[in-house]
Amino acid sequence: EAGLRELLASRIRDVPDYPQPGVVFKDITPLLADPAAFSALTDALVERCTALGASKVAGLEARGFILAAPVAVRAGVGFVPIRKAGKLPGEVFAQSYELEYGSAVMEVQQGAFEPGERVLLVDDVLATGGTAGAALELLRRAGAVPVGLSVLLELGFLGGRERLGGHLDGVELDALLTT
Ligand code: PRP
Ligand code: MG
Repeated sequence: EAGLRELLASRIRDVPDYPQPGVVFKDITPLLADPAAFSALTDALVERCTALGASKVAGLEARGFILAAPVAVRAGVGFVPIRKAGKLPGEVFAQSYELEYGSAVMEVQQGAFEPGERVLLVDDVLATGGTAGAALELLRRAGAVPVGLSVLLELGFLGGRERLGGHLDGVELDALLTT
């Protein structure tokens, strides 16, 4: 609701020209430092998790980890990390994705999910959608069924939702805040 959105928005700091000139960085550290705001965000995401019937929460390294892990704990389901390349032991699925300059690779462990398991994917920001798109593909390749993509903040002007396109088949995209 409006009260929650107002609280969350008040705890996100705009940092102009970071990490590069012309970019306005959305700093979520004030939100993380405020237990009332962090807890309210967690509760809202737990509600999504429960409503969607997800039995795992997946978080995206690095900022997605911070938001996703408490959701999993409070919802009483497991947490699965989706990590930048080379950090997870054993057999992994790997997916490359486009960055503003060049590309990167994310990975998930092959045995992370039961076949057909319903998963809520959590990240802090949806910008171009490249990161989330790769993560949704990784979940599917690992045999899971992504049912939700929840982000704290959607940067609507970057068109991530549109660019995700077919990656969102069967996935409810939910942003607590939209610019
Ligand atoms: C940021 C942000 C999202 C992603 C969104 O992560 O946390 O994960 O970019 O961008 P996109 O929609 O254009 O893909 P980043 O990899 O910069 O750093 P992090 O490790 O701090 O999360
Ligand atoms: Mg990130």
